[in-house]
Amino acid sequence: MTRIPHESTLDSSLNLLTEGYPFLNNRVKRFQSNIFQTRLLFQKAVCLHGPEATEVFYNPELFTRKGAIPERVQKTLLGEDGVQTMAGEEHRHRKAMFMALMAPDSLQILKDHLKRFWLAYSRKWEHMDQVVLFDDAQEVFCLAACSWAGVPLKPEEVRTRAQDFAAMVDAFGAVGPRHWRGRWARDRGEKWTKGIIKKIRNGKLTVPEASPAHVIALHRDLEGELLSTRMAAIELINVIRPTVAIAYFVVFTALALYEHPEYRQKLQYDDGRLTEMFVQEVRRFYPFAPFVGARVRKKFKWGGHKFKKGNLVLLDIYGPLHDEALWEQPYAFRPERFQNWEGSPFNFIPQGGGDYLNNHRCAGEWLTIEAMKVSLDFLTNDVVYEVPEQDLSFSLARIPTYPKSGFIIRKVRRMN
Ligand code: HEM
Repeated sequence: MTRIPHESTLDSSLNLLTEGYPFLNNRVKRFQSNIFQTRLLFQKAVCLHGPEATEVFYNPELFTRKGAIPERVQKTLLGEDGVQTMAGEEHRHRKAMFMALMAPDSLQILKDHLKRFWLAYSRKWEHMDQVVLFDDAQEVFCLAACSWAGVPLKPEEVRTRAQDFAAMVDAFGAVGPRHWRGRWARDRGEKWTKGIIKKIRNGKLTVPEASPAHVIALHRDLEGELLSTRMAAIELINVIRPTVAIAYFVVFTALALYEHPEYRQKLQYDDGRLTEMFVQEVRRFYPFAPFVGARVRKKFKWGGHKFKKGNLVLLDIYGPLHDEALWEQPYAFRPERFQNWEGSPFNFIPQGGGDYLNNHRCAGEWLTIEAMKVSLDFLTNDVVYEVPEQDLSFSLARIPTYPKSGFIIRKVRRMN
């Protein structure tokens, strides 16, 4: 058996912090190999890249998420012991609860709320000197997500709740103050959503039956038990927080529209096909999730390597989205590439790969695509605006990243 390339440093955690998104891809290129070994946080990590490796990584017989997600990520981004760390039948049962929330009727409710709040904000923007789209998009998504989820939100708390959900997301690749902001935001968020779960259970709060808060509050595990109040609160946040995170993609959508103005008019006369391709290209082109981790469940051999039970394995998410072997001119923004594109569960994985129900692929991928389409339609068909001089660059070393200025717009006018 040939030895896979080993990175010969004592520990590469600092390099990960300074290189950011391309950390795995840089080594894939350097070693000319889709599999290599490094050391992160003083443990061995085997790193995988590309569709073949993705297929292996998403084989639930071979990998588990138990013990793979660092505590610092659970204490900020994800919450402790939620769906992301579950396995087997228990995971499937919990995941089915999430996927039931993604039925077309449910998504339509979210989309209607989202459109309503975008329009409401555009009326406000007409009277403002300038708007930081990133900040207001977080509020719009927070309002839409809470309305859809059945979570009451007072007007005076919209800004702080939106900031808290964003802080949980912003903490995931961070050390220092950003990490702590995320922890405090999670503490506040869990306290708040625990109160909502309790009120739904004791009848003090009535919410629509198919709404996420109702479904989660009354969900029963395989033993027929309700989730603990804390677990239900964590899973409710697991629906609202990532919906607010779509604001990152929306700001990149606005950036793409600005940098490729030729699409604006085409999108105004679109039957939906270009909108879909544009959104897919935004999810491919701009960085969000860098990689995902798992632990080996039982020993196996693949790619010239003997995987041992318990080994930490990281799958590259960012790299394959810009891989020349998969995409022609990967660093060009070209929505048309999705026209006759042959997708598989393993060759385009901005939100994870494999199967939704039997694996950990993002439960909210369809919701993300639909919400981005509503937002793109709003930006092209409902408003016109100017984009003043500003720093629109984004750093690949920052995880998660977004344009430094937050995308400032001004002279907003409604078109209808
Ligand atoms: C899992 C990305 C939006 C709910 C994931 C994973 C990624 C991801 C990379 C992990 C996949 C894996 O471990 O294999 C994103 C991105 C989003 C987004 C970039 C865009 C903002 C959403 C939305 C929801 C959602 C809108 C729900 C409304 C979840 C859940 C999981 C998950 C519940 C855990 C699934 C499991 O462990 O089985 N997401 N996501 N995500 N996502 Fe998303």
